[in-house]
Amino acid sequence: MEAMTLVLFGATGDLAKRKIYPALYNLYIDGKLPSSFSVFGLGRRELTDESFQANVEKSLRNFSRRAPGDETAIRNFLNAFRYSVLNIDHEEDYAKLLRLVEEREAALGAAPNRMFYLSVGPEFFETIAARIQSSGLGGADGWKRLIIEKPFGHDLQSARELNEKLSGAFAEQEIFRIDHYLGKPMVQKLEYLQRSNPVIQALWTNRHIANVQITANETVGVEERAGYYDHSGAVRDMFQNHMLQLLMMLAIQLPNNSTSEIVRLRKKQVMEALVPLQSDNISSQIVRGQYAAGTIQGKPVNGYTSEQGIPATSMNDTFIAAKLEIDDYFWRGVPFYIRTGKRMREKSTRIVVEFKEPLKQQGAQQPEQLDPNLLVIDIGPKEGITLQLNMMDSREKGAFEPMNIEFHTSSDDVPEAYENLIHDAMLGDPTFFAHWDEVELSWKWVQPILDAYAANHIPLLPYPSGSYGPAASDELLAKHGHRWWFDT
Ligand code: BG6
Repeated sequence: MEAMTLVLFGATGDLAKRKIYPALYNLYIDGKLPSSFSVFGLGRRELTDESFQANVEKSLRNFSRRAPGDETAIRNFLNAFRYSVLNIDHEEDYAKLLRLVEEREAALGAAPNRMFYLSVGPEFFETIAARIQSSGLGGADGWKRLIIEKPFGHDLQSARELNEKLSGAFAEQEIFRIDHYLGKPMVQKLEYLQRSNPVIQALWTNRHIANVQITANETVGVEERAGYYDHSGAVRDMFQNHMLQLLMMLAIQLPNNSTSEIVRLRKKQVMEALVPLQSDNISSQIVRGQYAAGTIQGKPVNGYTSEQGIPATSMNDTFIAAKLEIDDYFWRGVPFYIRTGKRMREKSTRIVVEFKEPLKQQGAQQPEQLDPNLLVIDIGPKEGITLQLNMMDSREKGAFEPMNIEFHTSSDDVPEAYENLIHDAMLGDPTFFAHWDEVELSWKWVQPILDAYAANHIPLLPYPSGSYGPAASDELLAKHGHRWWFDT
């Protein structure tokens, strides 16, 4: 891999500590970092290189999925880390950084390939990108790349404005927008599942699929993020990005020789084919919820408006369920049901593909207990695939029982989302990053929901913590003859 320098803004922050340093270390142990590699950590705090390295060491000892390993490996890894104080508004700090980066590149004889990772609030993106440009940090002979994390805007207009500003300093192919769901191993496997299995390919259409259910339930509440979350809600925090990315990854139809351009083109086509919400019947397709007090795993918990930092009158959504339709040749007529919520019964991210019931269709007698065939894709916390078929019950002739074909991976040895994504960005592979087209189309689809929430055209329904959301979420499916699978 080409030599490179990673310039990390927000180097003393939580994401760096919990995810980025452990990911880099695991890549290092796996031999996936370039042989000539440096990290410049930036923050407002004064730190020496040594104390910065000590912080990084602590983070990988606490959060790495692997045992830290032998001391020499750790020392060699930490040796690549340097620290520089940076106030994002101070031009002289960028000039100093440029000097340090150039010195280090010269000492290593390394090409000036630079990856700028903005692990900071989105309000700083614009200034930093502009200063990278004006200071000359981004103007070297090598390549430059920018990694940013959601939120990419607060609504359609602000997302467009942000993109406009970023594109003054970086071209689209230089911007790597992280959606960590796209880094989850099972999400990355979705395209292989479809592409490498004729059996799946043959069934992946509206001829055979009755509906698709995409769930991302969490047991945690708002935690210490009241300031952010109360202005964001489930629709912006999870739905506009992670959930719609899961929908795209599931719905794309790929040729065998698919490339990253084809994946992105097909994802865009899926978003373009999503039937827009109509303001006059939006409440029949969207359910908005907010958690009330309840019990999570035997422990009583507060309702959302009693959480620290949340106003008692907050109308923020902590749950959303939606029915979507993709109006294209493959999916016309197949409902996609999506839901995500906090303080739900269990933590589970899962896609269920429900197949049509041929016995019923042909008018044959439907045995009462016969379930449809299901393909269940568990994305997290456990990872696996289950195909649910029907079999004869050997104890009772003529009776059926469900039979599962199951595959589960052991999670210990699987790279984490951030490892996959940072490695891909280093290789310059954009397949599992959100392209601007997808981001814009997602905001476009979501905007009527934001408007309807603001105008209070969709009721805010309380649901007890520890449940599966408001009853209206079940009704959303029931009126089309469906139900959420695996709600116990
Ligand atoms: C983040 C959201 O993007 O995803 C959080 O901001 C949420 O609110 C998290 O908890 C869920 O991620 P995961 O990987 O635990 O499903």
